[in-house]
Amino acid sequence: MAQILRDRIDKDGKVLNDRVLKVDSFLNHQVDPHLIMSLGQAFADHFKDRQVTKVLTLEASGIHIAFATALRLDIPFVFAKKRPASTQQGSGVYTAEVESFTRGQTCSITVSKDYITSEDRILIIDDFLAAGNAALGLISVVRQANAEIVGVGIAVEKSFQTGRKRLEDEGIEVLSLARLKSMDPATGVEYVKE
Ligand code: G4P
Ligand code: NA
Ligand code: NA
Repeated sequence: MAQILRDRIDKDGKVLNDRVLKVDSFLNHQVDPHLIMSLGQAFADHFKDRQVTKVLTLEASGIHIAFATALRLDIPFVFAKKRPASTQQGSGVYTAEVESFTRGQTCSITVSKDYITSEDRILIIDDFLAAGNAALGLISVVRQANAEIVGVGIAVEKSFQTGRKRLEDEGIEVLSLARLKSMDPATGVEYVKE
């Protein structure tokens, strides 16, 4: 499964500079549903015996991957919102602040208290792991709900950034399907050997 994603990155990914990989022809703008279902299957295969009750992601680019994973695990998924819906009351939501390095902004993410409870065992899914701020925001939400974090599943991990270490320091298992060791616009992507 991981090979499918690496092959697709090699074929259609564009290394913009030594830090940013463009994957918007198949992963986060135009989307290849067969590829996404393969990623969902890979996450489901890995976490299937861990009694996951819900998949949690952050809008927008995590949603289709979370959907595929949740469908394969036969459980619901929830996406944290970057702008609270008009129906979300202040006391009715869990909130975390997420700083985006690529965009240089901080945003509040919210999840209704109705959809994560202390009974839940949560698998967090996202498209990219860079500095880990999005994942740490989702982890904060899960902990506010006193739910269990089973692990974090990531499509593309930029292993030269600190995200994996920050999550592992929290005692959280990270499964990344493609781990980028380095990127170069001239020579392309190099993967972490596993
Ligand atoms: P972090 O959460 O790991 O700290 O990452 P960071 O702040 O650096 O990333 C902010 C946004 O940029 C995230 O999307 C993330 O998925 C995306 N991103 C990070 N690195 C790359 C990259 O190399 N290539 C691409 N294409 N995207 C990257 P977001 O702002 O939450 O937006 P959305 O697309 O989910 O709406
Ligand atoms: Na994202
Ligand atoms: Na994104």
